[in-house]
Amino acid sequence: MPGAIYAEGLVKTFGDVRALDGVDLDVPEGTVLGLLGPNGAGKTTAVRCLTTLLTPDSGKAVVAGIDVLKHPNEVRRSIGLSGQFAAVDEYLTGRENLQMVGQLYQMKAKEAKVRASELLERFNLADAADRTSKTYSGGMRRRLDLAAALVVSPPVMFMDEPTTGLDPRNRLQLWEVIQELVAGGTTLLLTTQYLEEADHLAHDICVIDHGRVIARGTSDQLKAQTGGERVELVVHEREHMTSAAEILAGFGKGETTVEQHTRKLTVPVTGGAKLLAEVIRELDTRGIEIDDIGLRRPTLDDVFISLTGHVAEEKEDENGSGAGAAKQSKRKKEADK
Ligand SMILES: Nc1ncnc2c1ncn2[C@@H]1O[C@H](COP(=O)(O)OP(=O)(O)O)[C@@H](O)[C@H]1O
Ligand SMILES: [Mg+2]
Repeated sequence: MPGAIYAEGLVKTFGDVRALDGVDLDVPEGTVLGLLGPNGAGKTTAVRCLTTLLTPDSGKAVVAGIDVLKHPNEVRRSIGLSGQFAAVDEYLTGRENLQMVGQLYQMKAKEAKVRASELLERFNLADAADRTSKTYSGGMRRRLDLAAALVVSPPVMFMDEPTTGLDPRNRLQLWEVIQELVAGGTTLLLTTQYLEEADHLAHDICVIDHGRVIARGTSDQLKAQTGGERVELVVHEREHMTSAAEILAGFGKGETTVEQHTRKLTVPVTGGAKLLAEVIRELDTRGIEIDDIGLRRPTLDDVFISLTGHVAEEKEDENGSGAGAAKQSKRKKEADK
């Protein structure tokens, strides 16, 4: 039986650009799929096709058991969409924005009011509820956008890069909200450029590049493929390298790599920051002075290198103003001609 979100052979072209080049997806009910890929990979296009905002050139899509191409209106009633470009009206207050969404979905005015208050509370926006959303910070807008998508508690949700551009604190807050939502039984497709985020939130991950799925699996499977987490350590004295290597071997989940000339040791681990603290304590007890130590988590780039032998081509900084963005907007303009 197909899952709550199902796609088969989705193709979408814009002029010469094959934004989707035959994408298959299957998200079981109540689970989270992380669609992971660099800028320009086709994530937004996939979300737009699945949420009826774009018609694919070919392929099949079924969401919440409804054929997306045949019955787009019914699909719209069963889903929530929050994304980089979802509509929050800047000139309305947070509360008015949420009430308006409720009314669009034919809620009674009173019901919409109650729902808006609930969501404002839940998303930490109660204090700012009656200010125009123009005055909100980036993180607050993102939360309002997400709240707007939840007014009607849809069984299936789509979130397009919900945390791109957020600072770490707001990102963590949003992760919590998303986890609560999923605990309530919602099926979620989430796009992201961050492996760490997919790792944290998603049951399954699809890596996409140039409109194709190039890998899929659980985050553990993907991380195993990329070598996973590592502790990297630089010892101060060359003569300490052997004993440091012994200590690391005791904590590691694989072979320790030793770089003599840089005095750097690397070992694959599981256990994150807690383990790192234990390593540091042990080194300290044995009197081994270190110049540098850190936990390196695999990134999207690491995944790409291990899958394709090269780094992801398009890259955008958090403000969307990097070289990758410029290159992409150029590509977009060319495609529009
Ligand atoms: N409306 C459009 N017109 C022309 N090209 C587009 C349009 N939307 C997306 N593209 C192109 O399709 C490709 C995939 O874009 P997109 O789905 O936005 O990727 P992502 O969301 O992963 O960054 C890119 O090359 C992009 O430039
Ligand atoms: Mg996008």
